[in-house]
Amino acid sequence: MKRKILVTGGLPYANGSIHLGHLVEYIQADIWTRFQKMRGNDCLYLCGSDCHGTPIMLRAEKEGMTPEELVTRIHREQAIDFEDFLIEFDNYYLTHSEENKELSEMIYQRLRAKGDIKEKTIEQAFDPEKNIFLPDRYVKGTCPRCGAKDQYGDSCEACGATYSTDELIDPVSVLSGVTPIKKKSKHFFFQLTRYSDALKKWIRSEHLQEEVANKMDEWFAQGLQDWDITRDAPYFGFEIPGVPGKYFYVWLDAPIGYLASLKNLCHQRSDLDFDDYWAKGSDAELFHFIGKDIVYFHTLFWPAILMSANLRTPTAVYVHGFLTVNGQKMSKSRGTFINARTYLNHLQPEYLRYYFASKLTPRTEDIDLNFEDFRLKINSDLVGKVVNIASRCAGFINKKFDNELAAVLEDRSLLEEFAKAGDSIADYYEHREFSQAIRSIMELADKANQYIAQEKPWVLIKEEGQENQVHQICSLGINLFRILMIYLKPVLPELASKVEAFLKVPALGWEDRYQVLLSHTIDVFQPLMTRVEESSIQAIIEDSKQ
Ligand code: MSP
Ligand code: ZN
Repeated sequence: MKRKILVTGGLPYANGSIHLGHLVEYIQADIWTRFQKMRGNDCLYLCGSDCHGTPIMLRAEKEGMTPEELVTRIHREQAIDFEDFLIEFDNYYLTHSEENKELSEMIYQRLRAKGDIKEKTIEQAFDPEKNIFLPDRYVKGTCPRCGAKDQYGDSCEACGATYSTDELIDPVSVLSGVTPIKKKSKHFFFQLTRYSDALKKWIRSEHLQEEVANKMDEWFAQGLQDWDITRDAPYFGFEIPGVPGKYFYVWLDAPIGYLASLKNLCHQRSDLDFDDYWAKGSDAELFHFIGKDIVYFHTLFWPAILMSANLRTPTAVYVHGFLTVNGQKMSKSRGTFINARTYLNHLQPEYLRYYFASKLTPRTEDIDLNFEDFRLKINSDLVGKVVNIASRCAGFINKKFDNELAAVLEDRSLLEEFAKAGDSIADYYEHREFSQAIRSIMELADKANQYIAQEKPWVLIKEEGQENQVHQICSLGINLFRILMIYLKPVLPELASKVEAFLKVPALGWEDRYQVLLSHTIDVFQPLMTRVEESSIQAIIEDSKQ
């Protein structure tokens, strides 16, 4: 049966460029979505820029433009970066949009109607010079636990303590340097506590990764707290209807951006129906791919908001780890904080897609980009193994057999083995065991290469009466190569389309692995992929140094 699936990637903030860390997520979800599409499922992949909040407002101010101008510009840049990394969103939208405003207001009204919003006056740090309430990150001071200077208002990087801004010794506003004062203001709180039981049930009935479920158990044990969903002016966001000067907190409208992205797509495509996906009882599957830093928002606040608003909840939230480079946190001074564009200026996107795929698991551990390993792996797996099969066989088919594959293949055992392996490889993709999928595919590639090496068509072709045998070997080789490309297509879509053109076949689907090309004319072979050079990697690192 055809599945109906909605996939989302976390919405990147519209105040900075896409970097290789982000790409772990968007590539992971892109591979998964492309796989689902190849299997014949209806699958939509949605994303967009997360536009609101204090940092974006301040950044725009610093650059002398309006926040609208800033987010429009960054949104455009992000969309191009994604496209160039072959990340194929069905829609890449923005949270600063009419659709998102309407949906946020609608959901807020529903929360109110349910009685889930509580009003409370709270006291917060306020910058009397800039006239703005200060989020925790905008207050710095001395750690009350260990005495380390220059620590943020919510936690200490030296000793790891977390505390409230009140406790900070000698606090100053990061914006003006003055001592913040305390100021009262009325805030709206979403009563998360009312959903404790429902959330516990949701966790049990759905497919959360074990480590994520464990983390949530810890949170439950500590007890949930009501969630402040308002911010005071000046703020870049949606003003709350009927409450001038109060805005929705960015994290309220950000996940609603998932819905807005679909709503906007529905305006463009008449075959899609919004309620099919988001109404309670929808039979569509909904998956959020996110990084481990934003789990709380997606597994507590978000499902609770959806429950309160009488909408469907996610089928699962798939959490991945963080990217490290050469074993360390990405760093601007080491040149390992690499923007998507910097990478693209020197290397093909598919190298990175393949490398990430070869390392991704369904677990939340961090993944490391080791540049030496990266270069060796691409050169040995993709250039040395996969593409090599085609280049070893195609020349003979082109030159000796007028581009035509043999009419029958006498020994089909390898073909059958390759096609059958597609079941377990599909299973690996489905369960986000990408590294296992790649391992299996490379084992098959090794087998194909061993077969050709053992049959030695380049020797046989010089012998009398061996033409038919050479035709057999090379036609089989090309057919094996074709099956490998089916399996690699979710990861390497551009290479796959070059191969489809070379083989003169329509777009390959997962079930095409059972077909065999016989008496079929192929194109003249062109080099499909070049090696990764050490110098390109050096150039990327140089360009990334500040
Ligand atoms: N705007 C929020 C998400 C809102 S979703 C309704 C946000 N934006 S972000 O730009 O900081 O991150 C976007 C996604 O990229 C998140 O899922 C985050 O975990 C992921 N990553 C950001 N940096 C990352 C790494 N260095 N490594 C792996 N993933 C990373 O959070
Ligand atoms: Zn400390």
